Amino acid sequence: MGLKKPNISVVGAGYVGLCTAVGFASRGYRVSVCDVDEKKISKINQGVAPFHEPMLQEKLAESIQNGTLKGLVNRVDWIIEETDLTFVAVGTPSKADGSIDLQYIESSSRELGKALKNKDSYHVIVIKSTVVPGTTQNVVKPILERESKKKCGAGFGLCMNPEFLRQGSAFQDTLNAERVVIGSIDKQSGDTLENLYKGFYGAHMPSLIRTTLSTAELIKYASNAMLATKISFINTIANICEQIPGADVKVVAKAMGLDKRIGPLFLDAGLGYGGSCFPKDVKALIACSKSLGYVPELLASVEQVNKTQPLKAVKFCRERLGNLEGKKIAILGLAFKPDTDDMREARVIPIVNQLLNEGANVSAYDPIATQVAKTIFGNRISYACSALECIKNSDACIIVTEWEEFKKLTPDDYIKNMKQPVLIDGRRIYDPITYAAKLEFTAIGLGKNVE
Ligand code: UDX
Repeated sequence: MGLKKPNISVVGAGYVGLCTAVGFASRGYRVSVCDVDEKKISKINQGVAPFHEPMLQEKLAESIQNGTLKGLVNRVDWIIEETDLTFVAVGTPSKADGSIDLQYIESSSRELGKALKNKDSYHVIVIKSTVVPGTTQNVVKPILERESKKKCGAGFGLCMNPEFLRQGSAFQDTLNAERVVIGSIDKQSGDTLENLYKGFYGAHMPSLIRTTLSTAELIKYASNAMLATKISFINTIANICEQIPGADVKVVAKAMGLDKRIGPLFLDAGLGYGGSCFPKDVKALIACSKSLGYVPELLASVEQVNKTQPLKAVKFCRERLGNLEGKKIAILGLAFKPDTDDMREARVIPIVNQLLNEGANVSAYDPIATQVAKTIFGNRISYACSALECIKNSDACIIVTEWEEFKKLTPDDYIKNMKQPVLIDGRRIYDPITYAAKLEFTAIGLGKNVE
């Protein structure tokens, strides 16, 4: 690839694919992004981000305008011909048994393989999708070889390069990664990708791990499983705190976090983890491990804690209000976390379903996720245009997502607007002493009678 910047292509314009594409384009690489979804590509080509992600919109528009980025529908042949390296970032959804569905990995590998057949120069395929250990070697490689009639390592290169970006800061994470993990079939493939990243990050090259394909695949799952474990762990401690008068999980977590071996991050007790990664990845790792003959009991418990945790919000309502039939419950926050409109595996879903099962009337507000929520709950709940409208005349309010604007609500806002000021702080955003003094206040991980 010499000194000239290589041309990059990306298959799949989801969070990972589009952030990767725009990330490279914003640093002057010529990037083409290919997807089967015509609507999505047409939006991208108009400079409009197909989902909400801070900074992405601005950088996408810039890259489309200055011609560094372009979107294509179903033109894998073109991207192989015109670019030097292709990132594959297609979805790997869960199947009913928790294992991952590889249909998009398989179909894109077939198309890439067919296109590679007609290419004379060296091309590197980089799997960025989250796939269970063994997939790149045992699924992707044979398809590419069969379709291209070339030998992997000779005619083309193959790498596995997991992505660790978080929604809400996906674009920033792409530009400032903490680590780059490169699993490769051979040295040449890995060197090509390493050189690309060295050029991309320049003086700010993150720590680099070079390894095998399957170790790279496992690093992604192990990282997400560890973070999910930290969350279920602190939620377990929260549940214990609730049994101990005067105990507060927030203080426990703060003190624990000062131990460098533990660290302060991902110890926020709450209603559990949601999103497109943790639930799916923990399930997939369990399924993969079981299929290999080992039952990972720890991870099964991590999942179990996360399943029961959101329902505690409903239990707290019941403890304060008794029977929930006909009660108006206000839900603040629908997105699986702040700064996104994504509701995949959002903890609010089991909470709302349970409230409805018990006959409650639910009113919900989220700064940006309402449209998405309508596709999930339809007219089974009502949607407010502001937090204050949402809590108006309600019997209880549950904080489900810790949006900044909810942190600004004062005890008086609740007292003035609610029928009875029963506040359930599911994300620990309020100071318990101030709020418990004025409201009927219950919070995750807070023992009774905190003075
Ligand atoms: C996660 C990983 O962080 C990222 O590295 C990976 O690539 C994809 O999965 P994301 O799903 O965007 O990213 O969200 P994250 O910020 O990690 O939060 C996941 C969930 O955990 C959210 O529902 C959040 O509310 C919850 N969480 C997080 C807690 O309950 N407590 C915490 O301390 C941290």
